Amino acid sequence: MTKVLAAVAWPYANGPRHLGHVAGFGVPADVFSRYVRMAGHDVLMVSGSDEHGTPILVLADKEGVSARELVDVNHAIIAHELADLGCSYDLYTRTTTANHYAVSQELFHQVWANGYMVERTTRGAVSPSTGRTLPDRYIEGTCPICGYGEARGDQCDNCGNQLEPTDLIDPRSKINGETPDFIETQHFFLDLPALADALRAYLDGREASGTWRPNVIKFSLNILDDIKARAMTRDIDWGIPVPLDGWRDLPTKKLYVWFDAVIGYLSASIEWARRTGDSERWREWWNDPDALSYYFMGKDNITFHSQIWPAELLGYMGKGDKGGEPGIYGELNLPTEVVSSEFLTMESKQFSSSRGHVIYVRDMLTRYQPDALRYFICAAGPETSDSDFTWREFVQRTNSELVAGWGNLVQRSATMIHKNFGEIPPRGALEPEDQEILDVVASGFDVVGNLLARQRLRHATAEAMRLVGEVNAYVSRTEPFKLKGAEQRGRLATILHVLAQCVADCNTMLAPMLPHSSTAVHHALGGSGIFMPLPRVDEVSDLDSGHPYPVITGDYTDTPSWGRRAVIAGTPVAKPIPVFVKLDVGVIDEELARLEGSGR
Ligand code: MF3
Ligand code: ZN
Repeated sequence: MTKVLAAVAWPYANGPRHLGHVAGFGVPADVFSRYVRMAGHDVLMVSGSDEHGTPILVLADKEGVSARELVDVNHAIIAHELADLGCSYDLYTRTTTANHYAVSQELFHQVWANGYMVERTTRGAVSPSTGRTLPDRYIEGTCPICGYGEARGDQCDNCGNQLEPTDLIDPRSKINGETPDFIETQHFFLDLPALADALRAYLDGREASGTWRPNVIKFSLNILDDIKARAMTRDIDWGIPVPLDGWRDLPTKKLYVWFDAVIGYLSASIEWARRTGDSERWREWWNDPDALSYYFMGKDNITFHSQIWPAELLGYMGKGDKGGEPGIYGELNLPTEVVSSEFLTMESKQFSSSRGHVIYVRDMLTRYQPDALRYFICAAGPETSDSDFTWREFVQRTNSELVAGWGNLVQRSATMIHKNFGEIPPRGALEPEDQEILDVVASGFDVVGNLLARQRLRHATAEAMRLVGEVNAYVSRTEPFKLKGAEQRGRLATILHVLAQCVADCNTMLAPMLPHSSTAVHHALGGSGIFMPLPRVDEVSDLDSGHPYPVITGDYTDTPSWGRRAVIAGTPVAKPIPVFVKLDVGVIDEELARLEGSGR
């Protein structure tokens, strides 16, 4: 049994999540975690809302509320929609907890004490018309690396490189177009050059493992070539105070949002442990070098997970050119895998909340089954190349694959069993065709399992659905519905027993992707209780400050194990209710019209 940390990217608390967000990391991380639990390992799945940073502050200003009020509302919205989607976090928390502040400050302080946080005078942007600091993201200009005309002051979305506002050619304010003034200001920089050798050794080791997606490891190694120190503090009044004398009380100096956000993986693990009553338990996932960690995110987050976060950890442990020693958390594991997805578009265009070209997760969940949405993401998500969500494909996959393929197999199997026997019949001697289908389906546990273990959701889903097709073909071949009379009853019983077994196996294999309906299928075959545990939202109080907030958590100990569970003859089987809802093709035009209406 291995300890496996599933570290899921932290959504910005700037509004509800759209489909693109959950397709890139929410659902893939959940499917992986569910499979790993089924395979018998000890998963800790953590994430939370990413609540600091300029965009939140700017949005709060625009809405006339405080940043705190804005994130309180959005954190609750996001926690509920991710839970409704079935994402089985052990803890989904937030970055405004006192615990997260303390953990982030401990990391900063030790990185600083080890000499990897260096103070520098830099030039910061201010708006000439208002005199206020101009946030990096709100400065736009030409990327000095790739020449893209709309690069932002923190990052170029075209080439993915991190930037400083002063790097931009022809910088201008995105708020009013004016050219910013740059004034002198003090900041702390993470000394990435002093950590570069350690980072390279780490990434070379990961490359040698051969398990990272090629794009991800290539990109991560490439950005080491011109590595520069990066500012880890900002001129902003919303964020975590810099934990050093002379800085702590400065109202407009805070830690950079990305510095603290990635620390969330560690702070959430610690919060989880504290909430279980064994506050040191997180160490099993972080200090034990045999523990594994998988980080799930969209491709615009790679830099922060394969460079900045490992650099923070190495600096904390004193493992760069300047030496040093670890702080109170000890030796911490670097990411085993950075599992990054590509982008999802909708109807061939980028998702955009501001332009109304968007479908929100919560709206989708009010109209469709959560597993229909999950199925689309698993079967056609942006796993290793960009992919496109279209309403036509959503309806078509739901109807022909989920309803007519998998749902129909469940429905007709349970119906025949119910009508003919009222319970799972005992099996007699197996014909070769029975043994063959049992073997074909059983082999899926290895094939699908190996694919899920390597986060190949699309291939795993296709393989499980291929087996569903094989079982449907077995029904057509053996024609149990034509077997009548006493002399054929034994053969009928055997076929239906074999069928029940195959359906139960396919259900087990599809359960990581389709946790909600796996319980319905389980019931259709006479099972009881919950097949796949689901998360819940709890209202908790901040462990240190008492401030109330919702978290996602759950008890996943009753997760079924991965593999064949023999069906039991004599189990009563009732008349089944269909598991999946067939969609009217009118849905396509309806949804497209909605998109037209809300967007441009
Ligand atoms: N909030 C970021 C985004 O949505 C992701 C943060 S991941 C973390 O792109 F690890 F930094 F938290
Ligand atoms: Zn660029």
